[in-house]
Amino acid sequence: MSQKIFIDACFGRPTPYTPVWMMRQAGRYLPQYQEVRQKAGNFLNLCHNPELAAEVTLQPVEIVGVDAAILFSDILVVPNEMGMKLDFVKGEGPVFAEPIRSREDLEALIGGEEAADKLTYVYDTIRLVRERLADDKALIGFAGAPWTLATYMIEGQGTKTYTLCKKMMYTDPELLHAILRKVTDVVKLYLEKQIQSGVDAVQIFDSWAAAIEPSKYDEFSWKYMVEIAEYLKEKYSHIPVILFPKGIAAFVERGWVYGNFDVFGVDWGTPMALAKEKLGERYVLQGNMEPCRLYSKEATRECVSALAELMKEGRHIFNLGHGILPDVPVENAKYFVSLCKELSRRSGESVPEES
Ligand code: CP3
Repeated sequence: MSQKIFIDACFGRPTPYTPVWMMRQAGRYLPQYQEVRQKAGNFLNLCHNPELAAEVTLQPVEIVGVDAAILFSDILVVPNEMGMKLDFVKGEGPVFAEPIRSREDLEALIGGEEAADKLTYVYDTIRLVRERLADDKALIGFAGAPWTLATYMIEGQGTKTYTLCKKMMYTDPELLHAILRKVTDVVKLYLEKQIQSGVDAVQIFDSWAAAIEPSKYDEFSWKYMVEIAEYLKEKYSHIPVILFPKGIAAFVERGWVYGNFDVFGVDWGTPMALAKEKLGERYVLQGNMEPCRLYSKEATRECVSALAELMKEGRHIFNLGHGILPDVPVENAKYFVSLCKELSRRSGESVPEES
C-alpha cells in the first residue's frame, strides 16, 4: 500500500473511496488561477516560471479537494523546445508560425536528450510542487501523445479537419512516421525526467485520437504511446502510466487495446459500461463524466451516482471525460469532487456535507 489513495487506485488496490481529479483542473474556471496568470503576463510565461506554475498546480488540491495534482504546463512545450516557435493567440489558441511541411523542416528540429534537457522549468516546477504537496496527494506528470503533438506541428494550429496531417498519412507516410519517431524519442526522455524530478504518475493525452480512421489508429498513434509506456514501465514499474485516447469507443468495442500501462482514461463519448466489459479486467478505468454536466448539479449527481454504482467494486478513478470548461462555477466543481468521494465510500462511515 502506498500513502497515496490515487496511486493505490491506479494499481487496483483497495481504497476507502474512489479517488477523483479533473482533466484541466488547473485553469481559468478558478479566479485564483486568473490572478496568477495576470501576474505572469501570458500563458507561456506562466509555464516557464516554476514558482508561479507550482502555485497554480496546487490550487485545485487546496480549493476543490482533488486527490491528485496535475503538473501545470502544456503539451506543446515539447515541440516548442524542439525548436518550433509557439504563440498562444487570444481567441485562437496555440499557433506554430512555421509548421513542418517537409523532411528538411523536421531535420531542423532538435531531438532526443538535447530537447528533453531544455525543459528544465518543468522539472523545477515538479520539484517545487512535490515539496509543498501533502504526502497523501499524488502529482501527475504528463505529455501529449506523439500523434496529438504531430497534429499541431503539421497543421500549425488547432484544426477541425486535420487535412494536412491526413494528407501526409496517405501520401507520405514515411515522413509522418519520421515525425512521430522523433517526437516519441523526446517524449520518452521527457516523461522519464519528470519521474526523476518527482512525479508520482504520468498521463499521455491523445486528445485528437478520433481524427484517425480506426484501421490506421494503431499504426499512427497507439503503438507509439505503448512504446513510451513500455519504456517507462520497464524502468519505473512503481509509477502508474495512464493513457487517455479521446474518442475511441469504436476500438474499445473491438477489444484490441494492448500495452503495458496501468490506467485507461475513458472519454465521455465511450460508455463506461462498455469500457468496463472490454477493458475493466486488464486496466483500471478513469473517467468519464461529460464535462458539460458540471454546469448542473443535478446532471452531475445523476452521472456520479450511475458511475459509482457501475464501478462499486473499485478499479476506477473518477474524472471528467475531457477537460473542465473555463466558465464552470467553482462551486459545482467542488460538488462533483465531494460527491464522488461520498458516493464511493466503502467503509460506511460519515460522509461530507453537500455544499
Ligand atoms: O490542469 C491541467 O490539466 C494542467 C495543465 C494543462 C494545460 N494544458 C494548461 C492549459 C494540461 C494537462 C494541458 C494539456 C493540453 N494542452 C492538451 C491535452 C488535453 C486536452 O485538453 O485535450 C491539449 C490538446 C493542449 C493544447 C492547448 N493548450 C490548447 C488547444 C489550448 C487553447 C485552448 C484552451 O483551453 O485555452 C491550450 C492553452 C492552455 N493550456 C490553457 C491552459 C490552462 C489556457 C491558457 C490560458 O490561461 O489562457
